[in-house]
Amino acid sequence: MQAIKSKDSIVYFNTEAYKQLNDYLAKSNHSSVFVLVDSNTHENCLSKLMGNLEVEIPMEIIEIEAGEINKNIETCSGVWNVLSELGADRKSLLINLGGGVVTDLGGFVACTFKRGISYINIPTTLLAMVDASVGGKTGVDLGNLKNMVGVISESEMVLVDTSYLETLPGTELRSGFAEMLKHGLIKDANYWERLSKITELTTNDLDTLIHESVVIKNDIVLVDPTEQNIRKYLNFGHTLGHAIESYFLTHPSKTTLLHGEAIAIGMITEAFLAKELLGFTETALTEIGNVFLSIYPKTVIDKSDYQAIIDLLIFDKKNVGGKVLFVLLNKIGDAKFNCEVSEELLTASLDYYNQLK
Ligand code: GLY
Repeated sequence: MQAIKSKDSIVYFNTEAYKQLNDYLAKSNHSSVFVLVDSNTHENCLSKLMGNLEVEIPMEIIEIEAGEINKNIETCSGVWNVLSELGADRKSLLINLGGGVVTDLGGFVACTFKRGISYINIPTTLLAMVDASVGGKTGVDLGNLKNMVGVISESEMVLVDTSYLETLPGTELRSGFAEMLKHGLIKDANYWERLSKITELTTNDLDTLIHESVVIKNDIVLVDPTEQNIRKYLNFGHTLGHAIESYFLTHPSKTTLLHGEAIAIGMITEAFLAKELLGFTETALTEIGNVFLSIYPKTVIDKSDYQAIIDLLIFDKKNVGGKVLFVLLNKIGDAKFNCEVSEELLTASLDYYNQLK
């Protein structure tokens, strides 16, 4: 599969990925190499990475606790301290082996340690392969607010080895699939149509689809790396989706939602907003609802939770001058950013989701 070149980075796939990593390590003169893993990737993925390395370079492994709840500045502090104690310097390299928490947090640690060291992302979840590890967004959550602190700075390279997906639970696979469906909805109606017909996710089919998703994301990021305009499209479903995810994450009485499950709700509710505000068709809205509800469990959002969820929108990173700005769809495959939405419509969108069967 062909490598995908971004401004400062490049995404390599499968066997080519390890060849490129070995060449890179052999040619570069890093003073030391660190591999950041979490408890899951330590157990399931590290030996595969090590088995594919052909260079004799000493590496130190740094492990963090798995889970979004640990994507915070305290975990970064722990990693910065370990790097410092182990003598990392500006010529050190950090390899992030993991899902979105590891690649986002590891990227942020690398970009800030000694004002910036090189890093490589090796995503091991579908979500990280098609979204988190590509495009240079790094960062951590601030309390219950997702990705509030971070920088945009691309990795040296991203290595996508889809065989890591073989040990991934089905729920995690579906979580990443939501981002791929999003790529179709914002940019490519044909891609959406093909994805929406898939009844079972197999790693074989996923190979080429992951490549297509990375191409869609990369084309957007190349035009607008710092999210001044069209990169905002990638936030479709994430305005309400992030608020719902944050709310459920921090309320012990609620079941935590996976990112993909939350943005699936976000995409349905924001498609409803698009119907109300941009003339997005009722037929397309129904289709989106049907597709997402055939993949993701229906969640009940209690009316008594609406206000707290809507209040969280104040913290959305796309807001300007206190205004909450949404990405909506004109039609499938065609998005529009900076759309203002009234509180009344937000409530109606949550009602719309709740009444779906
Ligand atoms: N995850 C959205 C972006 O990279 O812009």
